[in-house]
Amino acid sequence: MTPKQIVQELDRYIVGQYQAKKAVAVALRNRYRRSKLSKHDMEEITPKNIIMKGPTGVGKTEIARRLAKLVKAPFLKVEATKYTEVGFVGRDVESMIRDLVEVSIRLVKDERYRMVEPKAFQKASERVADLISKQVTDLPEGITKETLVDEVAKHNLDQLTIAIKVQDNPKGIEIPNSGGQEINLGSIFGDMMPKKTKTRSVTVADALRIYTDEECSKLIDLDSVNDEALRRAENDGVIFIDEIDKIASKGNTNGPDVSREGVQRDILPIVEGCTVTTKYGNIKTDYILFIASGAFHISKVGDLIPELQGRFPVVVDLTSLGVDEFVSILTEPENAVTRQYAKLLAVDNIDLQFTEDGILEIAKVAYELNTTREDIGARRLHSIMEHITEDISFEADGTPRTVVVDSKYVADNFTDLSTRNLKKYIL
Ligand SMILES: Nc1ncnc2c1ncn2[C@@H]1O[C@H](COP(=O)(O)OP(=O)(O)OP(=O)(O)O)[C@@H](O)[C@H]1O
Ligand SMILES: [Mg+2]
Repeated sequence: MTPKQIVQELDRYIVGQYQAKKAVAVALRNRYRRSKLSKHDMEEITPKNIIMKGPTGVGKTEIARRLAKLVKAPFLKVEATKYTEVGFVGRDVESMIRDLVEVSIRLVKDERYRMVEPKAFQKASERVADLISKQVTDLPEGITKETLVDEVAKHNLDQLTIAIKVQDNPKGIEIPNSGGQEINLGSIFGDMMPKKTKTRSVTVADALRIYTDEECSKLIDLDSVNDEALRRAENDGVIFIDEIDKIASKGNTNGPDVSREGVQRDILPIVEGCTVTTKYGNIKTDYILFIASGAFHISKVGDLIPELQGRFPVVVDLTSLGVDEFVSILTEPENAVTRQYAKLLAVDNIDLQFTEDGILEIAKVAYELNTTREDIGARRLHSIMEHITEDISFEADGTPRTVVVDSKYVADNFTDLSTRNLKKYIL
């Protein structure tokens, strides 16, 4: 995808914030451009990491979430606050690289699965047909042993129940150790003990699914999946570090602060480029793209240790949202809240409609509350919508009814607003 296409795609869900969208789009495209260069040039070019800053509730996390669905590259979103300094109990920063590799493995596996699926499905159909012919005595009319495989593959017998043998995998018990790596007892002992099978009674549809999975994993070569996954994580991986501002501290010298400066120091080598050992092999972090984001409400970008700031050369600002943006957010995105509420209430036969002036009034109230109270961005719209629909939601019992939300309706719900008695709406 070209940067413009990426921005267009993001536009479907996020209103405004053009600068941030542009920066991430360019960074992503640069990965592609780099991949087209000679090996020598590729080694020299490292990604330009990005910091997104802006007040709360203006779309930072949302951009990351949508981006994750968009890129076909290994993408991991983490919260900086989850990590502790090396040597203290908790997850260390390196575990984010291990998680990225896991994501990459899943991605590559999925692709390979899809490639071999037709073949695996055919095999699975044969196995299921075989079981049916052994177990089911009175086959539905018109189906003979010869046509059985076909009928199974066409999902014409999905409702039949058959008994199949499945592997009885011991449940894994995850023990987190201090290194952040998890040991899976089940998989350690599971490999040592003989495989047990148990008989389950399932529908043909389920049996097909289970056998297709089984056949798929027989058909793909796990070693090559590992190699490909590591290569992709290394070259195309994107890690989104959210809430980075929460690990910035203003020269706090009261004793050790295990989850702030230490974490920042631990992040340095990873962003700079180092080698991390994972259970699939070693991975170099030099070419992974890092996008950090934070509200920087209490702390500033300048409060991060300078070495870390330097490693994020691109800083983009997200802007506070105004009335116009709120109107757009309420109406334009495919998942706009107004549509969400309308769909929800439609289940109870309520036809919820919003007039143009009603939407405008909601946007105005949101803006007003954001300026007079705390600025919580687009999240304010959610709280207002909840307030407006509270009674309708409560009274809805399936009786068909039409509710039109116009400016009067909204104003009636917020009569106190004019008298500046806002206490009721403080979150
Ligand atoms: N520009 C926008 N366009 C559409 N929806 C938005 C926009 N900004 C925020 N929202 C909506 O508001 C909610 C909160 O946004 P988001 O999670 O991105 O906030 P944030 O910027 O990450 O804030 P924080 O700093 O508190 O984490 C989401 O449900 C999102 O859909
Ligand atoms: Mg966020």
